[in-house]
This record gives sequence, C-alpha cells and structure tokens, in this order.
Amino acid sequence: MRIAVYPGSFDPVTWGHIDIIKRALRLFDKVIVAVGENPEKTPLFNIDERVFMLNESCKGIGNVEIKPFSSLLSDFVVSVGAVAIIRGLRAVSDFDYEFQLALANRKLAPLVETIFLLPDERFVYLNSTLVKSIARYNGKLDEFVPPVVKRMLKERFLR
Ligand code: PNS
Repeated sequence: MRIAVYPGSFDPVTWGHIDIIKRALRLFDKVIVAVGENPEKTPLFNIDERVFMLNESCKGIGNVEIKPFSSLLSDFVVSVGAVAIIRGLRAVSDFDYEFQLALANRKLAPLVETIFLLPDERFVYLNSTLVKSIARYNGKLDEFVPPVVKRMLKERFLR
C-alpha cells in the first residue's frame, strides 16, 4: 500500500486542491490530506472547519482521508507510513518556497520524496487567498470552490 500525504493550509479547499488530490490518487493507493498550520498565515477558518470542508468536498472520492496535524510535516508523514509528499505547483512564483520546503523535508525525512503535480490549466491562477477576496466582495464562487465551501464563505462574510 503506497501512501502519499498532501499537506497544506486548505483555508479553504478549492477545486484546484481537489484536482491535485485526484491526480495523486492515480499514482498512490491512498492519499492523506494533512491540514496544518502555516505560521506565516492567519487562517479565516479554524482547523475543524477546514477538515469539515475537505471531508464534505471529498465525499465520493475513494481512498482519501483527511487528517489535521500540528507537528512537523516530516514527522507526520513518517508516522502515517507515507512514502511521498504531494504539492501542487502552479507557477514559477511558487517555486522558491516549494524548493525550500521540499529540501528541508528531505533533510528531516530522507526516505520521503516530494512530488510536484501540475493542476489542470483551469486552476492554475486559483488560490485560497483569491477565493477569500472574491467571497469578501460577494463575487461568484461556483467555479472556484465546492458547494460546502461557498456556503461557509458566504456565512462567514455575511456576519
Ligand atoms: O498551503 P500552505 O500554507 O502552503 O501549507 C504549508 C504547510 C502547512 C504544508 C507548511 O507550513 C508545513 O509543512 N507546516 C508544518 C510545520 C513544518 O513541518 N514546517 C517545516 C517545513 S520544512
């Protein structure tokens, strides 16, 4: 059983993330989506809300499990018996940060490979920050996020 971990903040999950999960499932028997804290960011949704939105959005996709984590990513990956870390790469601007993260994780867990997957072109420009900005100004969200996320964004910004 080859397991991959797909880590991120997922604040909130977008169709771009779902696309990466499905691509990873073509390569691995199981994908664990690991919802973590990025100390550089203040999240809009707490960890339980982010896990909930992912669970709802992944209903109907087999062999995927959503887990929160609050440790080092490399420790989490080893603890669940995974052999790879999946990251989505959208543009050259992602590269420096991703390169640093991947090399640090390799130092910490030498047997774990980081694999970069390209999203469908439809999602190349998409990220959670953009989605939050559109939601804040009551823009159309259907093309960007699953229905549960749209609902929760609307609730959050209506207050
Ligand atoms: O979606 P993001 O915000 O780019 O995800 C970043 C995340 C959560 C994957 C990263 O911040 C992370 O791995 N955090 C856990 C702590 C850790 O392992 N830090 C050292 C990485 S070398």
